[in-house]
Amino acid sequence: MKINKLILLFVTTLFLGSCSNDEQGSTIESEVETPVTVKASFSYTISATDPYVAIFQNTTESSFQYQSLWDYGLGEGKVNVGSGLVEVRYNEVGNYTVKFYAVYNGVTTEESKTIKVDENGICPNGLCGSTSSTSLKDAATTFAVGNITRSSWVIGSGKYIELLKNEFNSLTSEYEMKMNVMYPAQGSYNFSAADAIVSFAQANDMYVHGHALIWHNATPSWVENFSGTDAEFEAMVKAYITTTVTRYKGKVRSWDVVNEALEDGSGNPLRKSVFKQKMGDDYIKKCFQFARDADPDVLLFYNDYNMASSATKRAAMFTLVDELGDLIDGVGAQMHISYNGPSASQIKNLADGVISRNLKLHFAELDIRANPNNDLTVLSNDRAKAQSAKYKEVVQIYNSIPLENKFALTVWGVRDNESWLIDFWGNADWPLLFDSNYNKKLSYYGFLGGLQ
Ligand code: G3I
Repeated sequence: MKINKLILLFVTTLFLGSCSNDEQGSTIESEVETPVTVKASFSYTISATDPYVAIFQNTTESSFQYQSLWDYGLGEGKVNVGSGLVEVRYNEVGNYTVKFYAVYNGVTTEESKTIKVDENGICPNGLCGSTSSTSLKDAATTFAVGNITRSSWVIGSGKYIELLKNEFNSLTSEYEMKMNVMYPAQGSYNFSAADAIVSFAQANDMYVHGHALIWHNATPSWVENFSGTDAEFEAMVKAYITTTVTRYKGKVRSWDVVNEALEDGSGNPLRKSVFKQKMGDDYIKKCFQFARDADPDVLLFYNDYNMASSATKRAAMFTLVDELGDLIDGVGAQMHISYNGPSASQIKNLADGVISRNLKLHFAELDIRANPNNDLTVLSNDRAKAQSAKYKEVVQIYNSIPLENKFALTVWGVRDNESWLIDFWGNADWPLLFDSNYNKKLSYYGFLGGLQ
């Protein structure tokens, strides 16, 4: 009975508007006006392309002109952002109290909600652990997803190794499986770094893509200044390739036998490397033969850049590839590209040429410059979205090629701040999938979206 009374009192109070009771309990109707208040209300959804981004919406229902203020729980206090949807990224794991205020006629109302963020992003309905975070390698069911590494990075533990094992299933040595590191002095090999990378990969069920046996930019000086005859030079190269490929037989799935043999200039002739000069124009075929003789099962690739953006260089590459006959298994297109090019059709032309030759295609060194014209000092949300869309486009194109032509899609770096591009171009850029704190960027979700 008592409860009913309570409810009745509550309903009565509401019905009669403002009333008060004197000590005797009788009700006295008062003339006092109850100030109109605007009841603050908001909702949010989680971004479809970035689970760390909340999209906030003011859902306050009122015909009165009120002021709205947000506090996103990021320590920035109240901000006035006007109307419309607002996207906010929560980079760190944790709980954030978000408040929305409606101010009218001197009266402020607020609504407060807690946003919980775990390693998968914003927890739907505050239920953490309920999101199924697919990793890149798990989402790519028909080809390997690779990244580069260094021997110093695969020792011990930490966020890099955890992320590398979780997201990728193929490794390319960024520089330690090149001739200048593995063969620093004549007759004296140094495979310690390569061994560390290969051992780590084997222990973690990851492929290794050997990069690169012959590259004019990673040729030790003793080779550049070789003092013997051309025949002795060729014998040295044969011994180096045979020794290296034999050492990693059954451990390294594939090798870039030759990297960047073509000039960028008109006609894209062969570079005048010491290998061309001392072994002749057919040095590439000879090197492929040395590798094939050392390991009949290893996949052999030719690797180069601007394969999508330059039709002439692509044509020169296919001429080179056609001359190798069945010695070659695949083409590595480095894919150091930008958010605004090359176009999808240019990339598809590259893929079509490889497919028509029944070769494997490796997008071998993918990174996507967000700041090719150096017009940004920070990665804007718009540019991040454009970069994410480009990653999605590239991955979709790769994911659409026939199964028999699939091999791997390798990203050339984990964290933006470690990208070779920054030193190479000398300006700020954010070309990769993770930021400097190992947080997934929009580009990560673009890559993942290309796999759906
Ligand atoms: O890590 C060592 C450091 O311990 C040492 O103090 C320092 C001084 O010599 O060298 C550091 O290693 C450098 C390494 O990058 C890591 O920064 C090597 O000297 C340097 O040669 C190496 O450069 C690599 C370059 O190829 C040459 O091998 C870049 O990391 C790598 O991103 C770049 O990758 C190439 C691909 O192989 C082919 N396609 C183009 C691409 C970009 O140039």
